[in-house]
Amino acid sequence: RQLPCSRTRILGMNTVKTVRELRAAVARARSEGKRIALVPTMGNLHSGHTALVTKAAQRADFVVASIFVNPLQFGPNEDLATYPRTLAADQEKLLQAGCHLLFTPTVDEMYPHGMADQTIVRVPVVSEGLCGGSRPGHFDGVSTVVSKLFNMVQPDIAIFGQKDFQQLAVVSALVRDLNMPIQIIGEPTVRAADGLALSSRNGYLTEAERATAPALYRVITHIGDALRNGEQNHAQLLDDGKKALEAAGLRPDYLEIRHAVTLRPATPDDRDLVVLGAAFLGKTRLIDNLHLTTA
Ligand code: PAF
Repeated sequence: RQLPCSRTRILGMNTVKTVRELRAAVARARSEGKRIALVPTMGNLHSGHTALVTKAAQRADFVVASIFVNPLQFGPNEDLATYPRTLAADQEKLLQAGCHLLFTPTVDEMYPHGMADQTIVRVPVVSEGLCGGSRPGHFDGVSTVVSKLFNMVQPDIAIFGQKDFQQLAVVSALVRDLNMPIQIIGEPTVRAADGLALSSRNGYLTEAERATAPALYRVITHIGDALRNGEQNHAQLLDDGKKALEAAGLRPDYLEIRHAVTLRPATPDDRDLVVLGAAFLGKTRLIDNLHLTTA
């Protein structure tokens, strides 16, 4: 039988492009009593993403992944046009990792009435500052597209990487505040041997920049070690950390010690902490973090 052109099957994984097909495939799985997991992505998948899919396949019977480079979460001077699109390779990786259904909508399918008039989901407080400060509107775009995907798939669980720590906090707050019956699971960051967090944007780095890039995580872990050793002078730690980033050749965007759940600036009494950093290396913006508890 000829498959409709928007729908292709690669062995055990279907790729669908429309919300109608997505809902039909998920409804079939649901009618078979399957527990549904969703892994939202923007594609250009690396082993950090496939680890999310592997986890999803362990926790659910039917794994849905999405690949959608969401224009609503990119600022006017950001890399929307150049963001790498590698669908064939991504499909192969998803299949190997245990994905059952891939959703690859077009911009028109996601925003059929245009983006200007789109209802926006805004999560206060946790969306503000950090990446939300440097990328105005970014988390509104993320919260909106994630809410749409959640409504389209209605998964039991959804899995996100802890590398985007603030994004995970924003998504957790949105399901809580909007009473969405979805369990949000954060998976540990996957790193290269030299500590650099895997990211689709690492592909932008030149060879020399790639050699410099692990300095971000080195500085963050150095601050984490000092906090674990009882250092309480956060301002000094952060000041020294920014100087270390600059000395390594990175341009700090922010470096912060926050409460890991509220993301408010940490007080000396807080025990559940996260050190978050973002820095530019040439034109590439890298982010990373370390979640830790102090005694
Ligand atoms: O982390 C990402 O790749 C994106 O922000 C997400 C969650 C897929 C929403 O577009």
